Amino acid sequence: VEGPGNIKNRGNALRQASAWRGSHGSLLGVLALAVMLGTVTWLFLASRDPYITETLVRQSEVVLQPRVYTVECSEDYDNYKRYPGCTPQTCGRAIIDNSVTREEAKSLRKLAERGLALAGSDGGASILDLHSGALSMGKQFVNIYRYFGEQLSDVFSEKDFSLYREVRARIQAVIAKTYDLDPSLLYLTKPTFFSRINSTQAKTQHDEYWHPHIDKVTYGSFDYTSLLYLSDYGADFTGGRFIFMDSNGNRTVEPRAGRISFFSSGSENLHRVEEVSWGTRYAMTVSFTCDPAHAIADPVMPITPV
Ligand SMILES: *[C@@H]1O[C@H](CO)[C@@H](O)[C@H](O)[C@H]1NC(C)=O
Ligand SMILES: *[C@@H]1O[C@H](CO)[C@@H](O)[C@H](O)[C@H]1NC(C)=O
Repeated sequence: VEGPGNIKNRGNALRQASAWRGSHGSLLGVLALAVMLGTVTWLFLASRDPYITETLVRQSEVVLQPRVYTVECSEDYDNYKRYPGCTPQTCGRAIIDNSVTREEAKSLRKLAERGLALAGSDGGASILDLHSGALSMGKQFVNIYRYFGEQLSDVFSEKDFSLYREVRARIQAVIAKTYDLDPSLLYLTKPTFFSRINSTQAKTQHDEYWHPHIDKVTYGSFDYTSLLYLSDYGADFTGGRFIFMDSNGNRTVEPRAGRISFFSSGSENLHRVEEVSWGTRYAMTVSFTCDPAHAIADPVMPITPV
């Protein structure tokens, strides 16, 4: 029962409580902090892909000098004739963001969008190869030069083809400079194509772009593979990161419009593309060989405007 006699007791109780807080309050604070840190760490780890060991370059970064990662060359090149000044002596990967401008990447994406709008795969992955004319259509491919003929003059212009040639030459120059090669000894080889990927389910094997592969095993003529990204990871699409699959870890490159990623094509660069989970990813694949017998000419505008 409350009464005046209890006031003193209450005062004691208050003094005891504040003494308790004084000695234990900081302990509680530390505990709360530990719980918070634990939660943040858990959220961070849970949001990370357990298979990704390292991100080589983020989308938000701008790489102004080639960022080079050297790996030991595989023996794949021994199965082919060696071309001094071209055949990889130093193998690896490199990334550069200022050889092609974002404006140029945008123009190339528009070109790809217009071409791919003519058809496209039923699955999530379509390609357009301006050299051979191959374009995904439904569950197969058509040759745009045969199938669309003169209609193409409404879709492509000579400017598109000259931009492709200009950018191809610049990629060739940066590969040669980075690996100390004679640029005139590298030749464009096939296939060279634009790709468009979204999250629609694969309908045929052609749509299954995510399997690990080695370019030199798939295409014997390849010595250097390059990718020019035409859209931005995180902004235009999610998923779709490029992954180098090394025995000691998976290393990714996040696509960025205007970013060139290039690498020696042998087994030292086993890779895959992560499945796109949202949005549309555009890229251009440009590959080079040291073997003149596998050289191809730059694509040219096939239709003379009337
Ligand atoms: C993927 O692209 C195709 C072709 O433009 C389109 O028909 C399809 O709806 C797209 N899928 C998604 C999930 O956006
Ligand atoms: C790399 O990723 C694959 C899945 O794509 C996984 O099976 C493999 O264990 C990963 N490698 C390493 C070393 O983490």
